[in-house]
Amino acid sequence: MITKLFHNAHIFTPIDAGHPVAGPRQGKISEIEHGALLVRNGLIDQIGAENDIRAASQNLTIDQEIDCGHACVIPGFVDPHTHICFAERREHEFDLRIAGAAYLEILRQGGGILSSVKAVRNTSQHDLALRTQLHISRAQQLGATTLEIKSGYGLDTESELKMLAAIDQAGRCVAADVVPTFLGAHAIPLPFQDRADDFVDQVIQEMLPAVKAQGIARFCDVFCEQGVFSIDQGRRILSAAKTLGLGLKIHADEVHDLGGAGLAAELQATSADHLLAAADANIANMAAAGVVATLLPATAYSLRKPYARARDMIAANLPVALATDCNPGSSFTESMPFVIGLAVLNMLMTPAEALTAATLNSAYAIGMADRVGSLDVGKQADFLLLDGQSPTILAYHAGVSPVIQVFKRGERI
Ligand code: NIG
Ligand code: FE
Repeated sequence: MITKLFHNAHIFTPIDAGHPVAGPRQGKISEIEHGALLVRNGLIDQIGAENDIRAASQNLTIDQEIDCGHACVIPGFVDPHTHICFAERREHEFDLRIAGAAYLEILRQGGGILSSVKAVRNTSQHDLALRTQLHISRAQQLGATTLEIKSGYGLDTESELKMLAAIDQAGRCVAADVVPTFLGAHAIPLPFQDRADDFVDQVIQEMLPAVKAQGIARFCDVFCEQGVFSIDQGRRILSAAKTLGLGLKIHADEVHDLGGAGLAAELQATSADHLLAAADANIANMAAAGVVATLLPATAYSLRKPYARARDMIAANLPVALATDCNPGSSFTESMPFVIGLAVLNMLMTPAEALTAATLNSAYAIGMADRVGSLDVGKQADFLLLDGQSPTILAYHAGVSPVIQVFKRGERI
């Protein structure tokens, strides 16, 4: 048993009441000005005012005392939506996009996701894992201590399983919790361009059972969009995944309002993500069904699209989470501080709402809130020291990271 006392800490954290935080409560953060954390074997044993913790732990042997220098202490970020397992960047495509080419048009012409598919199929599991690890390390330096990572650049059974194995391998080599998601329906592979339903059959009959047998993926995701998968096709795939016991996620209403948010509500998905074009009625349906809205403002920024309506969602009592969507196409950033800055300045979330979105609600969005996402007794001691007076610094100090130290299960990274 290793016992550590982190003291002289200015603590800010959402409080976990057993469910994602919605509405006016999303902006309520607990603040302890002269705080301390007692950590035993990597878990939070006590948290509170330093005087109280010292009094309560008098009879304990404390192996190490760590002075936090009155820095601002917040939970480690949980990034609940990434595609950081990929083989090659797509810088040239970014040039095309800033010159005016549309994201979905590039995909339609066989580029975009499909060019990443070509690269992944030609890369070994080992190399993919190493590349993934590099992105995880960068995300960690920027404060992410838990990440979701999707497959979806394989699009055949063998390559999807290879991606999931690479994600698993990378996750074992880093001091971060990694949650793998199967995204076999991320694009329609070229040979299936005119018969998407046949590909959907293959996802359901061949890929999903193989993914289940492999035992790595915890969620199944689908990209529902014009020219990609329809709502009916998404429903078929996600229903099959649900039967197999996988959690559900959906890339919903990113460019067009197809009704993906409504499908997420219908199937009681864990989260619906993107939602730039989601309709009011479906926002209400998601709130009623207990679905988390995972917003990805760096994607709107990179695609130069109007941002998701975070204020309307919070007003509708829909819990909002934040993620990077880090991928080589629509959002190439591992930075949760950057995402929080965009959320505050461009989606008009308060810094406290954005902090809840990037920690506790994002932990709920990937089924990890029992372990991470807030500084509550019994959870992992995953936390960050910030160079600032409050979490506001994350939005205020633009384009740089105020994260000065990262702790995972009480160990400095
Ligand atoms: O979330 N929209 C679909 N998938 C990703 C982009 C993947 C890519 O372009 O490589 C997204 O934006
Ligand atoms: Fe995505």
